[in-house]
Amino acid sequence: MKLGPFEVEHPFILAPMAGITNSPFRRLMRRMNSSVVISELVSATGIEYMGQKTLDLLRFHPEERTIGLQIFGDDPAHLVKACQLVEKLGADFVDLNMGCPVPKVVKRGGGAAMCRDLPALSKTLRLMVDSVKIPVTIKIRTGWDSETRNAVEVSRVAADAGIAWVAIHGRTRAQAYAGDADWEFIGNVKAKSTIPVIGNGDLTTPEKAVERYRTYGVDAVLIGRGALRNPFIFDQAAKVLNGQPYRIPEASDYLEMLDAQRKLLEETYLDRGSMVHARKFLAWYSAGFPGSGEFRKKVFTIPEGPELWSEATRFFEESVAKRDNQYLQEDFLMGGHG
Ligand SMILES: Cc1cc2nc3c(=O)[nH]c(=O)nc-3n(C[C@H](O)[C@H](O)[C@H](O)COP(=O)(O)O)c2cc1C
Repeated sequence: MKLGPFEVEHPFILAPMAGITNSPFRRLMRRMNSSVVISELVSATGIEYMGQKTLDLLRFHPEERTIGLQIFGDDPAHLVKACQLVEKLGADFVDLNMGCPVPKVVKRGGGAAMCRDLPALSKTLRLMVDSVKIPVTIKIRTGWDSETRNAVEVSRVAADAGIAWVAIHGRTRAQAYAGDADWEFIGNVKAKSTIPVIGNGDLTTPEKAVERYRTYGVDAVLIGRGALRNPFIFDQAAKVLNGQPYRIPEASDYLEMLDAQRKLLEETYLDRGSMVHARKFLAWYSAGFPGSGEFRKKVFTIPEGPELWSEATRFFEESVAKRDNQYLQEDFLMGGHG
């Protein structure tokens, strides 16, 4: 299917998440069938000063294509330069974060605050689009707060500026992660938009992802936290969409994925970095499984990699068969940058 200018396999896409959608995890999720991947938000001002840490965040592997690098900022000149660097690095598209609710970012006029001044936004988006040949996309919220839910107007400004698609997290900036994502509102933006709209928020099961995709007529959906608990969700949703049954993952599926993730982490980071990432992912994948509380405690105290991975193998071998899928509905990770 077509998504903007790209040919993609299906409409289920891993949402950008800071500290999570780094290169090894994006590679893993491409293998797990997310049809597109997007980096975490990277500061355009940081890019301007070429800090090593910032540049590391922009690295990607060819296996990740179709890959977008996400930037944020408040200075149009820095945003333009960041677009040009993203293009030079060879990414397929550049995504502008206009949904981040974090005070440090919005106080300066970046993230979700960009939607508050539409004339300024229009100018900035035009400058960005004109500065590169690759598509520029945006990720927004429904609005600043319940009084100013202006995503329809923002999408119109974006379309006029030449933005390739708008992804919408169905909450306001004021809501942060509270309440439910408003898919009716997302559907309304889609109905009025001349460019593709990608819906996002609270897709915790493959059935829900397909139901929202179909009901609200969006061009694709982003799945964030749902993929941390169920990394098989992209493949499962694609199957549901095609009317095919999907297999509930068995212990062997988890072990195969963990082995791939271990190798990707070790290829990318030094020992300590690998451990930091491995611990987080193991805690998320195991959340809600029988015995996960005790497993998590161990995960954060085991000092060495080999022991950590063999403990993980033991845990998933024993607990996968015993889980039920109710845990997928519980609240999970109620904070982030978009
Ligand atoms: C830990 C965390 C970090 C996030 N970081 C980003 C980010 O860097 N850029 C962004 O656009 N959105 C970010 N988000 C927002 C997600 O992309 C997504 O919009 C939000 O989690 C709602 O989708 P979900 O219910 O499927 O998780 C983040 C969310 C979380 C939970």
